[in-house]
Amino acid sequence: MTMGNLVLLLVVLAAALSPVARCTTDRDVGFQLKLTHVDGRAAPAYTKLQLLTRAVVRSRARVAALSAVAAAVDPITAARILVRASQGEYLVDLAVGTPPVEYTAIVDTGSDLVWTQCAPCMLCSDQPTPFFQPNRSATYRLVPCGSPRCAALSYPACFHGVCVYQYYYGDYASSAGVLAQEAFTFGAANSTKVRVPGVAFGCGNVNAGYLANSSGMVGLGRGPLSLVRQLGPSRFSYCLTSFLTPAPSRLSFGAMASLDSTNTSDGAPVQSTPFVLNPALPSMYFLSLQGISLGDTRLRVDPLAFAINDDGTGGCMIDSGTSITYLYQDAYEALRREVLSVVPLRSVNDTAIGLDTCFPWPPPPSVTVTMPDLVLHFNRANMTVPPENYMLIDSATGFLCLAMVPSGDGTIIGNYQQQNLHVLYDTANSLLSFVPAPCNIA
Ligand SMILES: *[C@@H]1O[C@H](CO)[C@@H](O)[C@H](O)[C@H]1NC(C)=O
Ligand SMILES: *[C@@H]1O[C@H](CO)[C@@H](O)[C@H](O)[C@H]1NC(C)=O
Ligand SMILES: *[C@@H]1O[C@H](CO)[C@@H](O)[C@H](O)[C@H]1NC(C)=O
Ligand SMILES: *[C@@H]1O[C@H](CO)[C@@H](O)[C@H](O)[C@H]1NC(C)=O
Ligand SMILES: *[C@@H]1O[C@H](CO)[C@@H](O)[C@H](O)[C@H]1NC(C)=O
Ligand SMILES: *[C@@H]1O[C@H](CO)[C@@H](O)[C@H](O)[C@H]1NC(C)=O
Repeated sequence: MTMGNLVLLLVVLAAALSPVARCTTDRDVGFQLKLTHVDGRAAPAYTKLQLLTRAVVRSRARVAALSAVAAAVDPITAARILVRASQGEYLVDLAVGTPPVEYTAIVDTGSDLVWTQCAPCMLCSDQPTPFFQPNRSATYRLVPCGSPRCAALSYPACFHGVCVYQYYYGDYASSAGVLAQEAFTFGAANSTKVRVPGVAFGCGNVNAGYLANSSGMVGLGRGPLSLVRQLGPSRFSYCLTSFLTPAPSRLSFGAMASLDSTNTSDGAPVQSTPFVLNPALPSMYFLSLQGISLGDTRLRVDPLAFAINDDGTGGCMIDSGTSITYLYQDAYEALRREVLSVVPLRSVNDTAIGLDTCFPWPPPPSVTVTMPDLVLHFNRANMTVPPENYMLIDSATGFLCLAMVPSGDGTIIGNYQQQNLHVLYDTANSLLSFVPAPCNIA
């Protein structure tokens, strides 16, 4: 199907649906949601080894997609540098329309659009709930082409006054349909619910890709269409529980997104570092990483190893959709050397999980292994990563491994490294703040 045909088809569909929307009002919303891990709802439950292996495989896929997008040079692909990898690691429950239709969506800090698959569906991925039917909702409105929200699409299209979108993810997953606005209700089945009218979202009639047993995505990126930018005050925070526990994590918005009342671990101070803009990937949260220490040893890495290159590759971003941290090659090698010097055991390659800095575990009784904290030195902030957040124990195969992999491109701080860290994304002030906290305590 050509692009023109696709647009035409979408518009014909849209035309029958509903009148055009009016403007929305400012709002000040604060609420908290439960985040569950994408593998956390499977029945039967995955083993620890399966969880770790699946996370590493997903991380590799996501990084491959990110690299593909950042490195795209031809004009058509470059025009699609609007969206990144689609795979995420966390799910959230929400509902769309009036009456509210409940569904589960992937949370993605690496992209902007909120979308769900809509009827009539021409091409859709499998999803556990029925496709959203706009004609059954009293609050569904089309977004007019002249609206700033339509202009905010990196790849907008307009036909007979109807704004249609096409959103491509770096792994060739995509969603296309009508840009509409709806009342969204946040919160799971029996929790407190918050209703927000007039949220711009993609009603996708032509979709492809993997939805991790969910029915859409919620983008929390830096762009104007992301849920966090639409809610205002423009900030969110999350606190991710330990990777291998079933305890749900928390995602907070607006007034509820604050580190002020956080029960910090060991009275550690809140640290803050400014976001950096990568013009090739403007929705993503890049940071200025300047160095890494293991214990008191500062690794010998050229700070340029973490810089954003002119073509948009490189840099360091923080991401909730990648599990395992990707360290730029030179930094990874320096860290690997340091880990090998700290651990008095013969190193092995754990091909079962796909990590290459591993040691047999448990060690013989005569050997004591003590690992120091890892510190990521950001501009104006140090992020202390305790051993349980950068090493993992694969008890099934008997390995202790560095939970990081080398990257030929940029550095991505993954969510394994953010366990029990309360992280605040203040998009309005372009600042990331974080403090260690026990995330399983509300
Ligand atoms: C998909 O979700 C349903 C219900 O939420 C669950 O019963 C099922 O096990 C899930 N399947 C996978 C593969 O995660
Ligand atoms: C609503 O939309 C669905 C899916 O496109 C369609 O099957 C149904 O006939 C429509 N219902 C009405 C009342 O228009
Ligand atoms: C919600 O509450 C009802 C009644 O209290 C209960 O039957 C139902 O299982 C609950 N649903 C969930 C998802 O917890
Ligand atoms: C902090 O923790 C203490 C003890 O665990 C608890 O009593 C208190 O309510 C917590 N405070 C907040 C703000 O969560
Ligand atoms: C680990 O194994 C992989 C695949 O066999 C290989 O490419 C890599 O070089 C090995 N790494 C180390 C440190 O031996
Ligand atoms: C971060 O750590 C380095 C080295 O330990 C120290 O020199 C620097 O002052 C720290 N920065 C902040 C913001 O705490």
